[in-house]
Amino acid sequence: MKVTKAEFIISAVGPDQYPEDALPEIALAGRSNVGKSSLINRMINRKNLARTSSTPGKTQHLNYYRINDRVYFVDVPGYGYAKVSKSQREVWGKMIEKYLQERETLKLVLQIIDLRHPPTKDDELMYDWLKAFDLPVCVVATKADKIPKSRWQKHLKIVKEGLVLRAGDPLILFSAEEGIGKDELWAQIARYAEL
Ligand code: GTP
Ligand code: MG
Repeated sequence: MKVTKAEFIISAVGPDQYPEDALPEIALAGRSNVGKSSLINRMINRKNLARTSSTPGKTQHLNYYRINDRVYFVDVPGYGYAKVSKSQREVWGKMIEKYLQERETLKLVLQIIDLRHPPTKDDELMYDWLKAFDLPVCVVATKADKIPKSRWQKHLKIVKEGLVLRAGDPLILFSAEEGIGKDELWAQIARYAEL
């Protein structure tokens, strides 16, 4: 998809703030600092519309970005960040769980993994949880620019086996830094969101 318009809409703390225009939504889930916001920026050719940071835990609400008035990216707070207090983690956890389970306009979850490392326990739990709720998932292994091309296949295999990737779930190699995988990811988004 050629992006001609990309707008930040709202940083939502709960359902009464979610947009009501019923456009399809693509949510991003992944460990804190894995590169979710950077992926959004790369997909829409913007430097910093989605706020990125080298300090993990920056994205704390559901941040909605509307693209071409056709589809939303929903940037979800990262999981597995130890420095967030337990009570705060529980509040977010409930909000995110409810969103993922009940949001009717949610068409696809992009689960973002770091290509450099095997999936963590949290990554495995997240993927199993998404699958238990029958959500369509596309796994995106990002930061590919940090691995020599000759090792990409080996690392993809480790991601696939670590998550026990279910048949039919796409796995895409990506780099927000270099734009690798962007067209392939847009193709998957278009398929699920029926763009
Ligand atoms: P939280 O919002 O805290 O959950 O983090 P996030 O998942 O949104 O990560 P963010 O996009 O802020 O990126 C975290 C760090 O990783 C930043 O320093 C980015 O520049 C870097 N980064 C993200 N994607 C890539 C990539 O594809 N390649 C490289 N080399 N660095 C990346
Ligand atoms: Mg972020």
